[in-house]
Amino acid sequence: MGRTRLRGWPRLLLLLWVSGLRAAEEEESQCLLEGRNLTVQCLYNMLFASNLKAWQRVPSQGPPQTLIRTNTTSLSPKKVQNGRYLLEDDPSNSAFNVTVTGLRRQDAGLYQCAIDLSPRTPRVLPPRIRLALCGGGLFAFDLSSLPLLTIVLACGFILNKGLVFSVMSVLLWKGCASGKPNPGKQPAETSRS
Ligand SMILES: *[C@@H]1O[C@H](CO)[C@@H](O)[C@H](O)[C@H]1NC(C)=O
Repeated sequence: MGRTRLRGWPRLLLLLWVSGLRAAEEEESQCLLEGRNLTVQCLYNMLFASNLKAWQRVPSQGPPQTLIRTNTTSLSPKKVQNGRYLLEDDPSNSAFNVTVTGLRRQDAGLYQCAIDLSPRTPRVLPPRIRLALCGGGLFAFDLSSLPLLTIVLACGFILNKGLVFSVMSVLLWKGCASGKPNPGKQPAETSRS
């Protein structure tokens, strides 16, 4: 009984911690791979089933900029396209999907799913999406880590060989020294013969 309680508490705390993190963080990173498509699923409360749905870019300064938005308040599934942006709203699933085709470098930035409540301010659906070039990170990793790794491996190799070499030479030297007549004993031996 007491055991299950103890097991239950950390689980509850972990759950609270995770949900707290999610609420505070509210940003999700996605890789920007040039030429690929980005697909984001935006989940909303069914209370907003008939409201207009939008995909916005959040600039570092100034108000969010709407890239695509549904234009009817019907409850039937909707599909709107605007250039490289595609928005499909399925009110029966309380979700809409946003697809950005043929990603470009310039697409890097912060985005958000929103419920357009105009003239009131839109309701943002967390998490926001942080789109960032991942190739750059990989390139930096290759450039910075590869020589270091090579140096470490080379040093390891040299040290290893050096160690083996010194141990072997010590053994060899010892072997030679014991094989050779001891210089201290030599006079005694010569005197005996
Ligand atoms: C991106 O989406 C478009 C439209 O849905 C599709 O024609 C294309 O094949 C997709 N490209 C990739 C790389 O998935």
